[in-house]
Amino acid sequence: MSDSLRYRIPLRSRTAIGICFSLLSIAITPADASPIQAAFSRINPDLSSEQQLDAQIGRRLFRRPWISAPASTQTVDGLGPLYNARACIHCHPHNGRGRIPATQEKPLSLVMRLRQPANKPDPKYGYQLQPFAIAGHQSEGYIAISYENIPVQFDDGAQINLRKPSYRINGLSYGPLNPQTEYSPRLAPALIAPGMLASIPASEIEIQADPQDNNGDGVSGEVSWVWSREQQQKIPGRFGHKAEIATLSEQVQHAFTMDMGLSTPLFPQHAGDCTQAQELCLSAPHGDSPQYDNLEIHQPLVNLIAHYLRHLTPPLPRQPDDPDVLAGKTLFTQIGCASCHRPSWRLGGQSIQPYTDLLLHDMGEGLSDGNAEWRTAPLWGIGLTEQVNGNTYYLHDGRALSLMEAILWHGGEAQPQRDAVLALDATQRDQLIRFIQSL
Ligand code: HEC
Ligand code: HEC
Repeated sequence: MSDSLRYRIPLRSRTAIGICFSLLSIAITPADASPIQAAFSRINPDLSSEQQLDAQIGRRLFRRPWISAPASTQTVDGLGPLYNARACIHCHPHNGRGRIPATQEKPLSLVMRLRQPANKPDPKYGYQLQPFAIAGHQSEGYIAISYENIPVQFDDGAQINLRKPSYRINGLSYGPLNPQTEYSPRLAPALIAPGMLASIPASEIEIQADPQDNNGDGVSGEVSWVWSREQQQKIPGRFGHKAEIATLSEQVQHAFTMDMGLSTPLFPQHAGDCTQAQELCLSAPHGDSPQYDNLEIHQPLVNLIAHYLRHLTPPLPRQPDDPDVLAGKTLFTQIGCASCHRPSWRLGGQSIQPYTDLLLHDMGEGLSDGNAEWRTAPLWGIGLTEQVNGNTYYLHDGRALSLMEAILWHGGEAQPQRDAVLALDATQRDQLIRFIQSL
């Protein structure tokens, strides 16, 4: 990775932030309980000791909960007034994926995006539903999910059940949603080496796009061109289930503002996603302070978290040479899974294996939230989901409870691959899953 990709954090800010930590001895989420739970949280061991230290501070900030303003200390206040969670790690436990809430439980890591035509927010509720609020404020509402069972049969007669979710929002505190508002549920994805995805040159993402399917393989990946607030131009989006965010720094700032209600350099609104219709929320005390450039989260803090994410390493494949894993790998390629889940990319002298092309694909009606385009989910690390998170919720909304369910939800451009999986026999199905589990 070239040095220009790395953030340099001025020593002065680092020391200041470090001192705040030791003075406060803030309660942070306990360290990962076992080595396997830390599989997604490993910092590149080749960093210089100074950069290691920055990454460790970034990791602590990632795990630290924020509180409401005004607090006795300005270093951790400014949460809300409306929010989805208090800490990054609450939605990305052990840097892994989120979980579907139990009935009656407020969702934490399942974020309900609200969208009007042309990607406008709901006029009352904003860009997403905030199920939590600080004292004295009303949270916006909560999500109720119900599932319909859809039985699917393999060609050999074996059966499997898919769960089709439908969503309602109950307890809306600020009146009805606009009739044009659509829902887009997003489960927090695992954060596996996002810095490596960030380092793939934009030109290479563009080269492999084939929106008109000129090569006739039935797959028409498109670059998600998005406006980068940081670079002030349109560049390929990489992050989020629809690749709507262009850079790691923007992703960090977006999360602080939208999910936690904290102002950042690129999103300076201290009331986060509060709208004009939510006056109490807009006029509440906030944590912007001169010490932090009149923000709640200033640039050095964003840089530390981005630095941490940038230097996370992916877990190594497990038993890659097992004969069943190898047979599964061959099937994966033969069936055409690799035409979207691109196995590898070259980064300078290094090769990475994220199993994604970072492009958008039409995945068919079954997965559509009003728009059927999704970014090819990276598959690296996916086999450790259960060990890291204790559950297995796959796809953008966590509807699939097993890898096979996730595969059978594929439609649209991936319909031929899905049908090919239905035609596999039990041994081959097992080999395909064994291969994905090894990643
Ligand atoms: C309320 C839950 C929640 C909180 C809190 C949260 N995230 Fe996320 N995160 C998500 C969801 C949901 C997505 C996917 C968003 C989408 O599809 O647009 C996401 C996506 C990401 C991604 C992109 C991953 C990828 O592969 O595309 C990164 C990086 C990330 N979050 C980092 C953070 C950081 C850093 C923080 C704290 C500053 C944070 N998140 C706080 C829910 C959360
Ligand atoms: C046309 C492109 C395309 C093809 C072909 C394709 N996939 Fe996918 N895959 C995607 C996209 C896009 C998603 C994310 C969909 C979502 O979250 O709703 C995905 C998601 C997945 C997931 C769930 C990932 C997660 O993190 O939850 C698995 C597992 C998977 N694919 C495996 C396969 C296998 C195995 C094949 C071949 C049989 C295959 N895919 C073929 C595009 C594709």
